[in-house]
Amino acid sequence: MIHWPQRMQLANLPTPMTQITRYPGLPDGVDVWIKRDELTGLEVSGNKIRKLEFSLAEAQVQGCDTIITCGGLQSNHCRATAILGARLGLKVHLILRGEPEEFAQGNLLLDRLAGAEITYLPANRWREHEALARSLQKDYVAAKRHAFFIPTGASDEIGLWGYIAACAELQDDFKRLNLRPDYIVCATGSGGTQAGLLVGRELLDLPGKVVAFNVSDDADYFARKIHSDVSLWMQRYKIDFDVDALPTKTIEGYLGPGYGHAGPEVFATISELARTEGVFLDPVYTGKAFHGMVSELNQGASGQLPGARQVVFIHTGGLFGVFPQNQHFTV
Ligand SMILES: Cc1ncc(COP(=O)(O)O)c(C=O)c1O
Repeated sequence: MIHWPQRMQLANLPTPMTQITRYPGLPDGVDVWIKRDELTGLEVSGNKIRKLEFSLAEAQVQGCDTIITCGGLQSNHCRATAILGARLGLKVHLILRGEPEEFAQGNLLLDRLAGAEITYLPANRWREHEALARSLQKDYVAAKRHAFFIPTGASDEIGLWGYIAACAELQDDFKRLNLRPDYIVCATGSGGTQAGLLVGRELLDLPGKVVAFNVSDDADYFARKIHSDVSLWMQRYKIDFDVDALPTKTIEGYLGPGYGHAGPEVFATISELARTEGVFLDPVYTGKAFHGMVSELNQGASGQLPGARQVVFIHTGGLFGVFPQNQHFTV
């Protein structure tokens, strides 16, 4: 019996499920469904809002009036936090990796419009970001404020609940649509979506192996990160769970030139899916994962998704990341 922690209702749930019917890249005999988590909201959209329902509830329980969080210049998580802060009357202080831009675009523009205070930390000093967050927390205490720190991507033992809860929603989706997927596929960047899906699937005994495509780091990193976050979750919430038996599977090979940079095949995939299905991926996360999934499906039994007949792709959002990379599209 699991006791759920405090949760704020912030996302538009449940999100729809859409079957891909016209996208030309799929092999015959494989049904692909998309869990439309890019529709959890408009300006506050994607996977992060599911995690923030728990992280911000915890901040509220602790009586915080300020949120400090961190990420890349185009972080979807930071944008979601900045906007939710404005909506909830909380001050948001972002630590962003990179240099200030005179004319902000995409997520950074929305961060600024939402009134977030931003500290820029150059990439070569990024390893200091958690220490900086802790020192900002102290400064806020001195200013008689109470600041709550949410780590990158809200991927920690609290944010983990977001995709555990999403699994309960998937369970309803599968029942309603009579689905029994072989695989549940997502992009992984800070590991929280993948971890939540893995744990939720075990707890609810969902069909489908959880498989993630990394958009940064490598498979070993995600194995360690997930093990650590789930272990902390077990300790914090006093949950008996076999973390060592988690079937963590991260498929490498689709990161391309690096985090935030994609090859032409990813931009082509994004355009093709938009044109044929009206579903928009992004070049940093979902475009790479979707491209990876399609490539592996086309390799059939010799690929890394063998035996796939039905697959559910978790669309984790990220649309605003398209705009700062407009020069790479050939439309
Ligand atoms: C659009 C989008 N998809 C996927 C991810 C990856 O999710 P996670 O950070 O939980 O691994 C992120 C964030 O990192 C994201 O912003």
